[in-house]
Amino acid sequence: MEIQIATIVSGSETPAGDGMSGALRCVLTLPDGTKRSAIIKRGPAGQIMAEAFSAILLSKWGLPVPPPFLIEEGTTLAFASADVGYPNLKQSLALDCLPHGPAREAATRIAATLACGLPTTPLAAACDEAIDNRDRNLGNILWDGSAEIWIDHALSLGQGAHMTDVNKLCAMAVAVGYDERLQRSAVAQGLLLERDAPNSTEVALTSSSIPATGVASIVIARLNSLGNRLVARFPRPVDLLTGHDRA
Ligand SMILES: Nc1ncnc2c1ncn2[C@@H]1O[C@H](COP(=O)(O)OP(=O)(O)OP(=O)(O)O)[C@@H](O)[C@H]1O
Ligand SMILES: [Mg+2]
Repeated sequence: MEIQIATIVSGSETPAGDGMSGALRCVLTLPDGTKRSAIIKRGPAGQIMAEAFSAILLSKWGLPVPPPFLIEEGTTLAFASADVGYPNLKQSLALDCLPHGPAREAATRIAATLACGLPTTPLAAACDEAIDNRDRNLGNILWDGSAEIWIDHALSLGQGAHMTDVNKLCAMAVAVGYDERLQRSAVAQGLLLERDAPNSTEVALTSSSIPATGVASIVIARLNSLGNRLVARFPRPVDLLTGHDRA
């Protein structure tokens, strides 16, 4: 997947997300003149790099992600992704409409169970571990009732260093009792990730003004210990017996 430079149709922006970081639905003009509905995100250069790098890399690894775009705005760059038209898993199950309490907790558990059972979840868990994505919450999984698309990689590749070091898909699997299944299949998917993809992603970005030098080596280092990293996201039998934290 290449990343195209697009321009935004002025006045086309409307709020898209929870408003925490200001994702906006908008219309883009692509290099060939066609118009495309998209979600634009502005933010620190590091997060724009993380979104762009991850979109290309995860697509090379076969994870369904929306086509990415870069938007040049004066001296800064914004990231956009093609609007796939699906709601996220929080919206699909109307979680935010439920009052805090048992009903919301039960619905959240159902959403987490659904997230853990999607066909590409093991691949997504392996990818998240490789790019150090700490923010795979239910709002970052789009689902139309049958197909899923994975979005929002702004807090990967070191951009989430201020957050708890967590692989949220693995944590969800532990919470809903899918851990054995996900552990096995995510480790297997991790073995299949194309080892040259991080370098070719970095090369693909050199012609853009995204500063991604050295990012491939971060991913490659994580790939070299991916199996162990994934296994460490799940309780070991000894943890279950003793209740002690892992060493
Ligand atoms: N490509 C896309 N297609 C359809 N919907 C999208 C797409 N990208 C983002 N969205 C919607 O916009 C929401 C916010 O996008 P995203 O998760 O990337 O940003 P965010 O930083 O979490 O933003 P916010 O804090 O405003 O929610 C998503 O939860 C999803 O509902
Ligand atoms: Mg998000």
